[in-house]
Amino acid sequence: MKIVITGSLGHIGKPLTANLVEKGHQVTVISSKAERIPAIEALGGKAAIGTFFDLEFLTSAFTGADIVYLMEAWEGIGSIFDKDVDFVSAFEKIGNNYKTAVERSGVKKVVHLSSIGAHTDTGTGSLYLHNKVEGILSQLPEDVYIKFMRPVGFYSNLYRSLDSIRKNHAIVSTYGGDQKEPWVAAEDIAEAVAEEMEKPFAGRTVRYLASDEVSHNEVARILGKAIGVPELQWQVISKEQMLDGMLNAGMNEWIAHGFIAMQAAQGSGSLYEDMYRNRPQLGKTKFSDFAREFAKIYHQK
Ligand SMILES: NC(=O)c1ccc[n+]([C@@H]2O[C@H](COP(=O)([O-])OP(=O)(O)OC[C@H]3O[C@@H](n4cnc5c(N)ncnc54)[C@H](OP(=O)(O)O)[C@@H]3O)[C@@H](O)[C@H]2O)c1
Repeated sequence: MKIVITGSLGHIGKPLTANLVEKGHQVTVISSKAERIPAIEALGGKAAIGTFFDLEFLTSAFTGADIVYLMEAWEGIGSIFDKDVDFVSAFEKIGNNYKTAVERSGVKKVVHLSSIGAHTDTGTGSLYLHNKVEGILSQLPEDVYIKFMRPVGFYSNLYRSLDSIRKNHAIVSTYGGDQKEPWVAAEDIAEAVAEEMEKPFAGRTVRYLASDEVSHNEVARILGKAIGVPELQWQVISKEQMLDGMLNAGMNEWIAHGFIAMQAAQGSGSLYEDMYRNRPQLGKTKFSDFAREFAKIYHQK
């Protein structure tokens, strides 16, 4: 099939491109940077250079595709430390561009990378953005079939704690303990997306994605062992302390408040209610596999 993927060679785009090429599909990879062309071609893909803010570019890139994979990349919108960025209107803009480009290009099958929390517009903090985009894409005509993929938090989010792990032997959050929490590997998302592309499409469907269920104390214990820091702690601080820290560091206010609200929904479990009503089979990449990869990066510097 002719498949167009957004998300370049990012966390999901790279393994997804490799997977689809391996299966014999013709894959066009959208990237915002021309210097990415050699890496895309080395994987067996064809590069289309442009941005998801450019409707004409998207329409032309999508034309002739059997399936498009759509995602919104935060880094293409702006820094979470830029107080002037309006993330809600940027996500709306990208969602509307995708919708119009799909209609104009005549593509009938869409796989959308959404997120856990997209089932509701309330109480999920910054994940509201994904509910918004799902809503926009859902307005496409009925003969456009859409598979909404809703992954839980990525293992790779833990790389954001590298500094604090190195300096303080701690991962800091507003909740923790022994309550199991789902996590997902980007490779497992890519595999599920590729698998969905080869299965029949019908109407609008939702698939939740998780790879393992591990409590925060287990995360600290397993990562600590993998990196040779057995005293590594999952440290819980108050919401107020966390919010003050983020705002003092210059974080965009909407993002900072959205992060606190998202963690509250994770801690209470409300974020996962719909997923547990539609419980997914866990992917194959376990937390211990990720811990080995994390240890390599940890020891690099
Ligand atoms: N982290 C989590 O726990 C989590 C959980 C659920 C859902 N999600 C969602 O997953 C998505 C992130 O997926 P990912 O990790 O695969 O993405 P990613 O690796 O962060 O980024 C994908 C790529 O998009 C490209 N890009 C940036 N700006 C662009 C633009 N203006 N136009 C076109 N392409 C652009 C960049 O590549 P180039 O430099 O080549 O352009 C970037 O590497 C987000 O929507 C996020 O909210 C994340």
